[in-house]
Amino acid sequence: MKRTLGTCYYPEHWPQEIWEADARRMVETGLTWVRIGEFAWSRLEPSPEDLQFDWLDRAIETLGQAGLKVVLCTPTATPPRWMIDRHPDMIAVESSGQPRKFGSRRHYCFSHQGYQRESDRITSLIAERYGDNPHVAAWQTDNEYGCHDTTLSYSQAARKAFRTWLADRYRTIDALNRAWGNVFWSMDYASFDQIDLPNLTVTEANPSHTLAFRRFSSDQVAAFNRRQVDIIRAHSNAPVSHNYMGRVTDFDHFRVGDDLDIATWDSYPLGFLEDRVGATDAHKRAFTRQGDPDFQAFHHDLYRAVGKGRWWVMEQQPGPVNWAPYNPAPLPGMMRLWAWEAYAHGAEAVCYFRWRQAPFAQEQMHAGMLRPDNADAPALIEARQVADELRDAPDVAAPRAPVALIFDYDADFAWATQPHGKDLSYFQLVFDTYRALRKLGLSVDILRGETRDFSGYKIIAAPGLIYMPQDLKNELAEADAHVVLGPRTAARNADMVIPVPLPPDMPGLEVTVSRVESLRPDMPMPLKGGGAFTGYREELEGAADIVLELDDGQPAALRSGHLTYVGGWPDAIALKRVYSDLCRTAGIATVDLEDGVRCRDTGGLRIWTNYGAEAADTPAGRIEGAGVLFEKT
Ligand code: GAL
Repeated sequence: MKRTLGTCYYPEHWPQEIWEADARRMVETGLTWVRIGEFAWSRLEPSPEDLQFDWLDRAIETLGQAGLKVVLCTPTATPPRWMIDRHPDMIAVESSGQPRKFGSRRHYCFSHQGYQRESDRITSLIAERYGDNPHVAAWQTDNEYGCHDTTLSYSQAARKAFRTWLADRYRTIDALNRAWGNVFWSMDYASFDQIDLPNLTVTEANPSHTLAFRRFSSDQVAAFNRRQVDIIRAHSNAPVSHNYMGRVTDFDHFRVGDDLDIATWDSYPLGFLEDRVGATDAHKRAFTRQGDPDFQAFHHDLYRAVGKGRWWVMEQQPGPVNWAPYNPAPLPGMMRLWAWEAYAHGAEAVCYFRWRQAPFAQEQMHAGMLRPDNADAPALIEARQVADELRDAPDVAAPRAPVALIFDYDADFAWATQPHGKDLSYFQLVFDTYRALRKLGLSVDILRGETRDFSGYKIIAAPGLIYMPQDLKNELAEADAHVVLGPRTAARNADMVIPVPLPPDMPGLEVTVSRVESLRPDMPMPLKGGGAFTGYREELEGAADIVLELDDGQPAALRSGHLTYVGGWPDAIALKRVYSDLCRTAGIATVDLEDGVRCRDTGGLRIWTNYGAEAADTPAGRIEGAGVLFEKT
């Protein structure tokens, strides 16, 4: 497959006279794709039912005539001001009970039926008008579901929909009371209509209640998206996508992805490093102009799974951004490296955000491929280089990796509901595991929690799956691969209640977690032979073989056959011990990579990236700082 480049463009921000020159310059740079329209509602419908689509007709025609393919978006992330007068209660409500205001974006609640109908209406108008337009080669629904904490809304509309969702799920109120343990603190309900949203309670709400609300909220995002997809598909054969984000886990992206053709995501490595990667200050200093060496790759692998193999970077950082605590400029070469890293993980396209820096409004400090004065910015120069390289590059594929890592959004909802210790997060546990695997030079496939066919993998890492349906336990117990479980595996049932027999209660694994504790982050529990558990630890009983021991001789990890249970949150050294040992047993070659150096096998070609600022050695040769190395394998 030919890998491509693109950009995000806002024709409504610029005079029509310059559209043609912009389009020509995009093509000259080597771009294929231009994404438009996601925030344009106020210019498409300035007042109710006053439709002004002529300018969009012209924009699509101009871009298409220049040879570009258009990704057309629905504009539902930014309903115009008049919409709020029409539906004053469509605004999302914070957990404090405070409604959020108009004046930025994403000011809607997924559960509001009036807004759902408005979304259907504008989507239909756009899909009918452009569904068979030859220049519209792909679609994007909305923009970044969940951005700015907008998945959970505590509105009246959400409360009403939540009650219906609960009634569908539990059928009778007695069943719900029993499942949640509502006898505790006299929380029994007599009907579904008495159940409120789990905010503003005196102390914490029942975790079963909170988890149900998180699952409901996730389903609302999927349902909102599905309505748009159904409408678009009725008018167009072009693939439909949505642009997800980095470390946003409050809706199940796999469920949304089930309804889409392509998963895309918005990659801002420098912003994420400061804002979303759990890392030390020293690490942040070392990578401040490059980004974390594993964070982008993790999401590439995650969204490849969400997209069932088809995925893009829809927004690639083009220079300093405006929204992180600090906003440095990337090292020269990084914008090229990020693109190649995405292709190495199977991206079909990488689109830089945005074409020209806007001198006005919220993102005036956000770089583009062009400066506000129209001069080339560094991103344009590096994109041109990537375009030149792509012309002669061999094809890169994403073949099956030897190692699989399960990522389950529902587990993340449960950990968020009950972390048990400050800052303990499922995402971080999975990400720490991913980093350890990549530091060993491994390519990794991420699998959704609903996966039941594990054939072909030699190692399956499944940390932190707090609820495990019996069929998943059975499949893992019967898998040919080595399976690594724990901590918190199967520690709750589907309703967030501790099961008896005690966890993990896994066929073939002679381990019982008898007690759990969370730890101060500055008081790790050292392991014999190196490494430690930090933040969280479990006491283990059972006849399985001891793999790791705490300094005081208590078991830390146990193994029965191909099943290993790790009873705590391993630090980097402990993770390396567990996985390098298993790789040896499984016959997988490993290396010990320098901090910023990583690689990915693409079938015939191994692509090395160096996030370090200085040159570094790899088994394939020396690689410059912020550089990429192609090794034939
Ligand atoms: C993304 C968003 C874009 C733009 C960008 C700035 O989250 O989709 O519209 O705001 O961030 O970095």
